[in-house]
Parts: sequence; structure tokens; C-alpha cells
Amino acid sequence: MSDSNEDKSLENDTFEKENYMDSKKKEEVLDLFPGRVKEIAAGEGCKVLVCDNKVKLAVSALSDEILHFRFAPDGHLGDGFSYAAMPENFPDRGAPEMTEDEEFVHFSTNSLQVKISLQGLLLTISDSEGNVMSEDEKGFHWEGNRAFGGNIVQYSRRIQPREHFYGLGDKSCHPEIRGRRFELWGSDTYAYGSETDPLYKNIPFFIGIHHGQAYGIFFDNTHRSFFDFGKERKETSSFWAQGGLMDFYYIHGPTVRDVVRRFAQLTGVPELPPLWSLGFHQCKWSYKTEKEFTDLAQGFLDNRIPCDALYVDIDYMDGYRCFTWNLESFPKPGEMIRKLEAKGFKTVAIIDPGIKVDPGYFVYDEGVAGDHFCRQMDGDIYTGKVWPGDCHFPDFTKPSVRIWWSGLFEGLIAEDGIAGIWNDMNEPADFNEDKTFPRHIRHDYDGHPCSHRRAHNIYGTQMIRATREGIAKFNDGKRPFAITRSAYAGAWRYASAWTGDNISTWEHLRMANIQCQRLNLSGYSFVGSDIGGFLDKTNGELFTRWVQLGIFHPFCRVHSSGEHGSQEPWSFGEPYTSIMRKFIELRYRLLPYIYTSFYQHIQTGDPILRPLIYLDHEDTETFHRADEFTLGDNLVVCPITEAGSEGRWMYLTKGHYYNYWNDELVAGGEEIFCQAKLDQIPFFVRAGALLPLDPVRQYSWEKVEGPQEHHLYLPTEECGAVQSQIYADAGDHYDYQKGDFAQATYTVRRTAADQVEVQVTREGTHPLPPTRIHLHGTNGKPKSVTVDGVPVAAEQIVEAPADYRKIEIAL
Ligand code: GLC
Repeated sequence: MSDSNEDKSLENDTFEKENYMDSKKKEEVLDLFPGRVKEIAAGEGCKVLVCDNKVKLAVSALSDEILHFRFAPDGHLGDGFSYAAMPENFPDRGAPEMTEDEEFVHFSTNSLQVKISLQGLLLTISDSEGNVMSEDEKGFHWEGNRAFGGNIVQYSRRIQPREHFYGLGDKSCHPEIRGRRFELWGSDTYAYGSETDPLYKNIPFFIGIHHGQAYGIFFDNTHRSFFDFGKERKETSSFWAQGGLMDFYYIHGPTVRDVVRRFAQLTGVPELPPLWSLGFHQCKWSYKTEKEFTDLAQGFLDNRIPCDALYVDIDYMDGYRCFTWNLESFPKPGEMIRKLEAKGFKTVAIIDPGIKVDPGYFVYDEGVAGDHFCRQMDGDIYTGKVWPGDCHFPDFTKPSVRIWWSGLFEGLIAEDGIAGIWNDMNEPADFNEDKTFPRHIRHDYDGHPCSHRRAHNIYGTQMIRATREGIAKFNDGKRPFAITRSAYAGAWRYASAWTGDNISTWEHLRMANIQCQRLNLSGYSFVGSDIGGFLDKTNGELFTRWVQLGIFHPFCRVHSSGEHGSQEPWSFGEPYTSIMRKFIELRYRLLPYIYTSFYQHIQTGDPILRPLIYLDHEDTETFHRADEFTLGDNLVVCPITEAGSEGRWMYLTKGHYYNYWNDELVAGGEEIFCQAKLDQIPFFVRAGALLPLDPVRQYSWEKVEGPQEHHLYLPTEECGAVQSQIYADAGDHYDYQKGDFAQATYTVRRTAADQVEVQVTREGTHPLPPTRIHLHGTNGKPKSVTVDGVPVAAEQIVEAPADYRKIEIAL
């Protein structure tokens, strides 16, 4: 089956090398519009509004808050195939009931009211009280395009008074994006800047907030697409794509949290990763020989700096041939990897999509024989250039290719003991002028043959999907860990991601913070940046400040291009080494909390990193805040992003917080100045939280005696009941799915001005570590403490059985 709006001719690409909308301004606008609805037909789980000029609109409600709209300019709605959306996550509720009057079709859910104009299919979406959330300007329109034989499908809506916009994945500019325009076309953007666009990832999801309510739009179209938030016309926001259907979901709030959770329900969440993948990781392009690589491990041991994973970059391969080793530099890879693992270091290896054209090289031979490589319009296998020189590229959008690819990992995973795989260059990158495949390259698109126009933005996601399957196949029942550079919505189901080739500057430290928060808000939680910066030479101070931020990111890896000397935590001497050690140790102390936050992300869709706008979108002070964020429910962090700085102004959302370093209690809702000399970062714990801290380990699975500390930050009277969770399991394998986990919920409240109570509910059978409770905010010794009704010595540190249920503290 061929997609209705697909290109049908050999194409000329010059058209889209210009900025489409700018060129459009100069020309006569050729917009075409839907006609008048002449019929409302029943579709599968949807209603189809059919216009007198053949335009069709399929409408369905996945839930009371998620509406799905698909507009087809020429009446071909296709089969609804999507790589990202998971309608199966929602109970089937049948097609919406619609009514019609002279001007409009109406339907509603328990949360939303929708009005569609009979003339032109203009939508107005309101909440159940009639407050307009989304209102079309021109609505759906399109433009036939000769250059690639399809339609540019477009959509425009009115910007509501004082509306703000957020989202769109890895963009590096300020988080609030009103007045800007963006493009999604996965690009290899080496040394990108804060205004570079597009970048590596393609996440067509944004959030609008106005009148105290939030909603999201997920534009599920993998063609090159654009989003304008009032740049072209101040009061209009629009999105469009160079092909395909106008296929989008309206996702209602009213809170940002509701929107993000619902987007997670629609596009999925990851599985629990192996615990070691949340440890500290070290990478460089490249540790080129076995000696360099094992010396690196020794460096961590000698400096007593915890670390879980070391990475081999492209130079481990034989002439950049994927799935091979350069046996001169790494003579016995399996032996080396197993020895390192015995010392606590997992090895992660890079795999790129470009397969060297080299008859006799098994991957090349198999790829040709199995017809696994992308072909050109005229049928020849496409040859592009990447690191190995001339390469062919697997068509990862073809199921049989994914199966073949996954089988290739047997050597690396089962034989050599590689623990995780890093997919790079999967935008896909190509060293030609246009930096990617020509548009006429063909793809299977899971049985929907199409050109690269449609497959480009999904290519990386399908590659990492196949890679993940490969790791899982040969991993002995352990949880796969993979990392990707390019991604479309839903890639988070398969892998973690990093933000690509950044630079060792303070500006890039600020951008790393923004990008990771924005990705989290856009569905992608398991992300991090190249800590310290990839290009150019970092320095001790910048690197230290970046590590201080990076240990709070879900994926925590140092990486550099290797062209400017070493970038290991000890490379800059004292005082930096000691400070970095302290912070990497803190990462390991926080692992039970970070792992719990990951678990909560999977359970609820709440991102692991939460920008202030996520926490309180009714507080206008949060609208333009870029630096402060929370990690999980209870920790607030704000990086130091300027050289020589020993503190900074920052904002805490309403509530009460303890400064982690000195237990000072501060009130949110206003700016505060927070001191943070080089050995500190502004770091706060929510009042009422119970924060688990593990003993320091040198790697996440090291057996270490010693209790898990439960730091109880006493709530103020205004706090009400504050809940914290701890989730634990074996940290790998899947026994947790059979009940081998432990989950505890701690409800902490002041029952009187001088009384605090902690109630614990517990689930699961996983053995718990010994526990010791540390009290914060008691202002000296408490008068009495009881654990499960039994009085214990009234101190700030009290012993408790691992499975305690209740603590009472009299102050
Ligand atoms: C790309 C990647 C970078 C990697 C390099 C060599 O630039 O983004 O992380 O080190 O290729 O493989």
C-alpha cells in the first residue's frame, strides 16, 4: 500500500532548501480549504465528516481528554498506521455521538465540548464549562506541491490572550517559545548553538497554557514539519508538514501535569532500565586501545570515583565496520570486558547505521543478500558516506530488517559481554552537502512504502528499536540498555538519549539544562548531555559545575571529542577532583531516589525532571524560568551557570524547602539568593519529604554493608500531608514483574504544632536494607520519638526496623 500523499516522482530538493514559509510569503498563497460537510459517516471507532470537495475529517475520542483528528485533503485517510501513538492503551469507547445544526457539528466528552463548522471544518475545543481552549484560525488547509508530488498539510489556530507555549523536544533555546518558529527534521548538528534549528530529535508535541489551563497538541506526522507560535503572524500559531495527513491529537489538561501524563499514556513509557544505567558513565571519542581503556578504569579505582560504565567509541571497530573489533588495539575484547566487569565496570559500545561497502565483510554481505539496505527510486542500493567511507544503510522501517539487525548483536552482547549499545548518526547523517539521504530513497515504513520524506524523522527511532531488540535477544534475561541520538515521539519506549555534540562553554551548560528539561516535558525522561562539553577544551570549574548538574540528570555521562586532552573527573587536579568525587558519590547516594523517580515515571507518566511551569502553571513567575527544576517529587536543583560565581538568585515554587547543605528552611513563592561555592550547587529538599540515601558505592551493584538512611525533612504546618515513595527491586532482570519488588509510601504530616507523624504503607516482597532515620528541621533534639509505637532514644538519628510502619515525633 502506498501512502496517499506520498511523492510520486523523482524529486527536486531545491524547493525545501529554502525556508518554506519565507518563500511562501513572497509568492501568491495557494491555500486550499475543505468545502462543506455533506455527510457524517461511521468509521472504525470514529466519525468521518465528508466534504463536498472530497476532504475528509476522521474524529475520535480516545478518552474524555484526548481527541484525535485526521484530515485528508483528497479523501484518503489511509489505515491510521503510526509508529508513535498507542491507541491500544485506551479502552475502546466507540465513535463519538454527534449532533448537527445549521452551522456546526457538535460532540462532547465528560471534559470537552467540540464544535466543527460545516463550512471549512473549523474546530473550537472548549472545556466542559465552555472555556475555549483551542480555536481555529484558518484551521486545516493545504497546498498541492509540484516539487514532491504531494500536499503540504497545514493547520492554524488563534493564539489565545496571554497564551504561552512549551515543548518540542531537544530545542536548545529558551523554554518558552511564543514568537518563534521551529522545524523538525532530524539533523546532525555538530557544534550546534542556542538558536540552531532543527536539531537531532523530532518530537512534534507542544503545550499551550492560557487562562490558567493547559492543553497539548501531538502532531503525529513524520514528514519534515514546522511549528510557528506567532512568529509569522502575532496572533496565529500553526503547524504544517511536507506531506502525509494532518493527523493530530488534542490533549486536555487542565494542568501541565495532566497533559504530560496523558501524552505518556498515548505514546508510551520505557521499561525499568537496569540500575547500572543510572550510575555514572564515562566516554570519550575515543579510548583507542585496550591499554587506554583499562587505564581509564584504573583511574576511577585509583581516584575512588564511582562509575558504572565505560564507552568504546567508533575506533574500537576494524576500519569503522560495525560489529567488528580492531584486534590490534583490542586483542581480546571479551576477556577485557569480563575483567572490567569483575571490577564493576560495564562496557557500552557504539554502533552506527552506515555499513561499509566492502564485499567479504559479513554485515555488508548479509545486508546485500538479504535485501536489507535502502534503495533509490530506480532500484539501486543507495550509497552514502560516513566514517567508514562508502556505506549502505539498513532500512530500519522494514520489520525483516529489524529482525536481521537484532541478530547481529550476538557477537557483541553474548560473546564479548558488551552491556549496552549506543546508536549514533541515526538522523540519518550522511557526509554529503545535504547531510542526510536524498529525498527519493525508498523505505518500507512497515508495509507502507514511501520515500525518505516520510521516513527520515522516524529512521533513528526504528534503528534504536531494532538495536534494543538485539540486546534483549542475547542479554540472558537482563534488561537492555540502549542510547540514541535521533528520536521521534515514542523513542523513549526503547532507549535513553543524549543531546548530541555540544561545546565546552558556560552557555552550553545552560542549554544542557534547558534541553533536558524540555525533553522531559516532551515525553523523554531518560536523557542527559555530554557532561563537560563534547567540543573544545573544558576547564576544571566548568567541568565541575557541569558534573554538579549532570548528576541530577536521568542519564549521566561525561563525553568529549578527545581532541583537547583528557576529560575525566581527575583530569584537572585539585580542588576539582575532590569536588567531582563528592558529587558523583552523591549520585550514588541518591540512586534509590532516582530509581524510584524512574519507576514513578513509568507508573504515572510524570517526567523525572520537572520544569517550574510543570509544577505550578498558575504561578506566572514560572512562565519564563529556565534554570530551576525538580528531580522527581522532592528535590529542587538550580545549576550555577557562570564562571566565578559563588551563588545565584533563583525561584522556588510555593511551599517550604530545606537547603540540603545546611538544613535552612526557606519559603517558596519568591526569589531567593542561594550561596553555592564551588563545592555546592543550589539544592533543596521539599519540607515533609522522606529522602532515601544509600551508602556510597563504587558502582551501583557493589555489595556494601550499611544502612539506607531515611532523611525525614519535617513538614511545616502549612504543608498538609506530604507523600514520598521508595521503590526497590533487584536492579536488573524481570523478577520484579513477578512480585520481587518493594514499594513503600510515606505520608508525613504535622498532627499538631509540635507533633509529626509518618505513616508507611508497603507492598511487595523484595528484601529491604537496614534503615536509619535522620531527622531534619527539629531545631534541636526532639522530646520523644516512637517507631511502631515503641519509644526510642530521642535523637536526630534514630534506628528503625527495615519494615517500619509508623513514626511519631514530639518536638
Ligand atoms: C558523533 C557523536 C559523538 C561521537 C562521534 C564519533 O559526533 O555525536 O558522540 O563521539 O560521532 O562516533
